[in-house]
Amino acid sequence: MEKFIMDDMPKVYFGEGVLNEAFTYELKSIGDNVMIAYGGGSIKRTGVYDKVISLLKKANKNITEFSGIMPNPTLKKVQEGAELVKNNQIDFILAVGGGSVIDCCKMISVQAKTDKDIWVMQFIDKNMPTDFVPMGVVLTASGTGSEMNNGAVITHEELKIKTGMRGALAKFAILDPTYTLTVPMKQVISGAFDTLSHAMETYFGKPLNDNVSDEINEAIMCNTIRNIRKVIENPKNLEARSELMWDSAMAENGILKLGKTGDFQAHFIEHQIGAFTDCNHGQGLAAIHPNMYKHIYKNAVNKFARFAQVVWKINDELLSQEELALAGINALAEFIQEIGLPTSLTEMGITDKNMLKEIADSCTISIGCAKQLTHEEIYTILIECL
Ligand code: NZQ
Ligand code: ZN
Repeated sequence: MEKFIMDDMPKVYFGEGVLNEAFTYELKSIGDNVMIAYGGGSIKRTGVYDKVISLLKKANKNITEFSGIMPNPTLKKVQEGAELVKNNQIDFILAVGGGSVIDCCKMISVQAKTDKDIWVMQFIDKNMPTDFVPMGVVLTASGTGSEMNNGAVITHEELKIKTGMRGALAKFAILDPTYTLTVPMKQVISGAFDTLSHAMETYFGKPLNDNVSDEINEAIMCNTIRNIRKVIENPKNLEARSELMWDSAMAENGILKLGKTGDFQAHFIEHQIGAFTDCNHGQGLAAIHPNMYKHIYKNAVNKFARFAQVVWKINDELLSQEELALAGINALAEFIQEIGLPTSLTEMGITDKNMLKEIADSCTISIGCAKQLTHEEIYTILIECL
């Protein structure tokens, strides 16, 4: 294990119907002016909007609405939200949605407290935020785990960069798995694969020797795989959705990362594909992971062999460690196909090689990856993903 500091986490309310109980307690300790932020309108169709608004009204809050937060939220949208917060003297931001809404709100919280452009502040001046408008989360779609951390993934459209930023940590997060019953199946699967990806990106980060964080991680990976299969078999299976919701939070709440330097190279590649194409996050990851792992597994043979045995239950004694490692990556590729995620970028309509070169050249290089890749190697991987 490497040295670590364990940070604070949001207070989590988990379970069916938990909104009432959570708001009864939490709304007492927030200011009067609340901004509710959401996406393209799913919360209105599902009834979550009505529930939230009626409880806010019951608590006599002054409500401001900020809607239209898009999947892959942009810096422009963050700045629009921050203006609204400033102009309406908002005391508290309530994000109601999936990862995109939460991420946008985390950065609105920062931008509303400064006149400086937060992009310049974090990437040019290298100043991390210390002042935030407090926020809370009502989660409606799981996968990113954004509800329990302070990272936000934001796209700068002009610069064509999609990247992680440091934002606010929610005061509380309300996780009611019944809210996820209306999420389209395609999004359920891509969200759950995002969870699996977070777990793998942490597991294959350094150090690679056996450690407690990775052993907890193996349980999360096995549970995620099992429950993806269950939810495909029966989309109404609430237990499976509950498990996936908590898997998602566990994969990104910092517990699995204790004592580890994450890899996240597949994420860095996918984020740049997203900056150029606005593609779905989980689908992009599915197209990248197996090919990328075929490039790096020889630098981490024992870890990949353990992954094959523990996560994919491959226990062929005739296989060498290297063969076992490769069998695990093949099992991952077969699983991606089984659950209907794209197995290539071509399937996602991404075929422009010049664009892939730009994506590779602008991609962040991971220091936690078993093999530190070059921009040229990333381009090779992208071509193999076609
Ligand atoms: O916009 P609305 O109308 O609400 O519809 C959304 C959206 O179209 C819909 N949806 C959400 N809850 C629903 C629902 N539809 C029906 N019923 C419900 N209950 O689902 C669609 C996708 O939502 P989105 O929030 O974009 O998905 P997700 O949660 O996968 O978030 C993706 C974003 O999070 C970033 C990704 O890069 C991407 O920008 N990530 C954030 C991370 C973090 N902060 O920790 C980590 C991840 O690696 C990831 O990069
Ligand atoms: Zn992700």
